[in-house]
Amino acid sequence: MSQTLVDMLGEDAVARVAAPNGSLHRLPGLVFRDRAFLDLELNAWLARTWLFVGRGADVPEPGDAAPVPGHPYFLVRQKDGTVAGFHNACRHRGHRVLAEPCRGSKSFQCPYHFWTYGLDGRLLSAPHFTGYGKHRVPDGDPIGHGLLPVRTSQWHDWIFINIDGTAEPLQDFLAPMAAKLADVEFGKLRHFLTMHTRRINANWKICLENTMEPYHVPFVHRETAAGQPLSQHYMVEDGPVIGCAIDVPGSDFTNEPGSGAPDNLDMSARYLLRVPNLFLTSYAPDVIIDTMYLPDARDPAVSWLQQAWYTTSGRTLTPAELEAWRVLEDRVMEEDVGIMESVQQGIESVAVDDGGILSPAWETCIAAFYRNLVGELQPRE
Ligand code: FES
Repeated sequence: MSQTLVDMLGEDAVARVAAPNGSLHRLPGLVFRDRAFLDLELNAWLARTWLFVGRGADVPEPGDAAPVPGHPYFLVRQKDGTVAGFHNACRHRGHRVLAEPCRGSKSFQCPYHFWTYGLDGRLLSAPHFTGYGKHRVPDGDPIGHGLLPVRTSQWHDWIFINIDGTAEPLQDFLAPMAAKLADVEFGKLRHFLTMHTRRINANWKICLENTMEPYHVPFVHRETAAGQPLSQHYMVEDGPVIGCAIDVPGSDFTNEPGSGAPDNLDMSARYLLRVPNLFLTSYAPDVIIDTMYLPDARDPAVSWLQQAWYTTSGRTLTPAELEAWRVLEDRVMEEDVGIMESVQQGIESVAVDDGGILSPAWETCIAAFYRNLVGELQPRE
């Protein structure tokens, strides 16, 4: 029988996160480094909910496809304009079908024995399968031997999968996030940049912790966020939507063409996570950045990162603005990645077996994240 959350972490460690009484605590260090805990997260939580895995802008035309980083799934733009998700595993003997993003494919061919699948997943050809020169699909059943679909849905440009197919409708799942961003004109969302997929040598929860709390900002981002003093930040905790925000009156960058190139993050912002992994940063007046952290499905000490930038006013950026955003966000991310990977190294120590304590002023959002996690991983009636 598989272990429960309490079996793994102990009743006291779970209870002090689920119902804090005094100091705020993280979960024990094991949750950042243990393969069995990763399996519990993947199977008992992330497979049952909506996982943010990609963007429509990254597969804009029929036949465009992209693997989900760190996980055996891929996304494909269909001829009817929708985006479909499939298990990234050949139905013959399981070779990965798609290794890299691609554009305008007519079909997908497994590189092992060249089984070939259509954009809709059906098996088109199984070369020599029943004898030399006989390319018929097994049993004459192209769908039964086709790629296994995974439930996929889209909110604005953001694409989600629900692996076990039982989650609530995506719109309902995201309603709390939509309410927090009700002032954003998503109808004018305009994608302008996706950063390449990046491997980070840290558990995905360490990445999320760092991205949602402001405590580290004056220390780690002294220059890049010089215009966002810690004193001006406040926490956001509303059920599954958590994070922080800052109001910087009078310092919002202008949207005058050519003059909106930021040299540091001296602007009002909201940093919001809809658990488990849709992280949206809204910068006044009209920029949204998504940050996608996915746990690696095999290694608890590895995560996969992608980020994409949008305007929400329909405007395009000048080349100077685009370059300024790219340079600034690269600097911020370099600062963060170094910290996240260093935390992962420290968390291997028995000194952090209890997980550590959290600031009651600046890290209550992290405490809320773990309350959400505990709630999701407790056995259900
Ligand atoms: Fe894909 Fe054999 S494993 S064709």
